[in-house]
Amino acid sequence: MTRSVRDREETIALDAYQAFRARRTIRDFAPRPIERAALARILEAGLLAPTHDPQNGRRFVVVDDAAARVQLVRAFWRERTREETTTLVDSWQLESPEQRAMYLDALPKQASMLLSAGALVIVCFRQLEPLLEAKASLHQLDAFAEVWMCVESILVAAATEGIFGVTKVPSASDESQRVRRTLGIPDEVEVACYLALGYPAAGAPTFPPPPGEAGSSIYYNRWGELRG
Ligand SMILES: Cc1cc2nc3c(=O)[nH]c(=O)nc-3n(C[C@H](O)[C@H](O)[C@H](O)COP(=O)(O)O)c2cc1C
Repeated sequence: MTRSVRDREETIALDAYQAFRARRTIRDFAPRPIERAALARILEAGLLAPTHDPQNGRRFVVVDDAAARVQLVRAFWRERTREETTTLVDSWQLESPEQRAMYLDALPKQASMLLSAGALVIVCFRQLEPLLEAKASLHQLDAFAEVWMCVESILVAAATEGIFGVTKVPSASDESQRVRRTLGIPDEVEVACYLALGYPAAGAPTFPPPPGEAGSSIYYNRWGELRG
């Protein structure tokens, strides 16, 4: 291997790690659209993620139309008072104070983050067997698994461009149905998530994972063996 090739690989590796570290969920966006070319680049990065079947129909619907966005949000949005939000989050009895803080921040923003994002994308996949009744083999979940790999690639690619985002999963099947009807998505296509992308607003909060996760999550040769 020539010196220049090795240098190039090292540079590429460093850029990738920086992008992984830079990626954070953002729910507060600056009022700045994403250029179509940048959006296409980012979404195409998603299509480079592993796929068990290239024909499986990973599809993105970019929702540019402001009225359609409002219609989508109407499908699920219920305004809660601050008190109701706290009561709901407390009913989940979360052990981690960091997670509680994240939900208290995130819940009231589920509609605004989709409305104010520089771009809103509906991430879809084709599920051939019933998703929620998968019992025979985890392979029945392959299409579902790979669409999320695709989302991660999109978020990391976006981070390299200074663009961040958030995913929102439709919480009930009638919400997915409303999304399908609004955007003309066929019935056999599943909606994995809404993906809101944009430039972060100044001071947008982030909720990074607690430090030290790597030190306690990677085992060597045997479950629980941290050093091998
Ligand atoms: C499968 C999945 C579903 C998620 N659903 C939502 C959601 O419905 N609403 C939301 O605001 N964030 C959602 N998130 C974002 C997480 O809350 C976020 O990743 C978490 O707070 C960690 O922050 P980070 O992405 O900056 O590491 C989801 C993330 C994943 C991976």
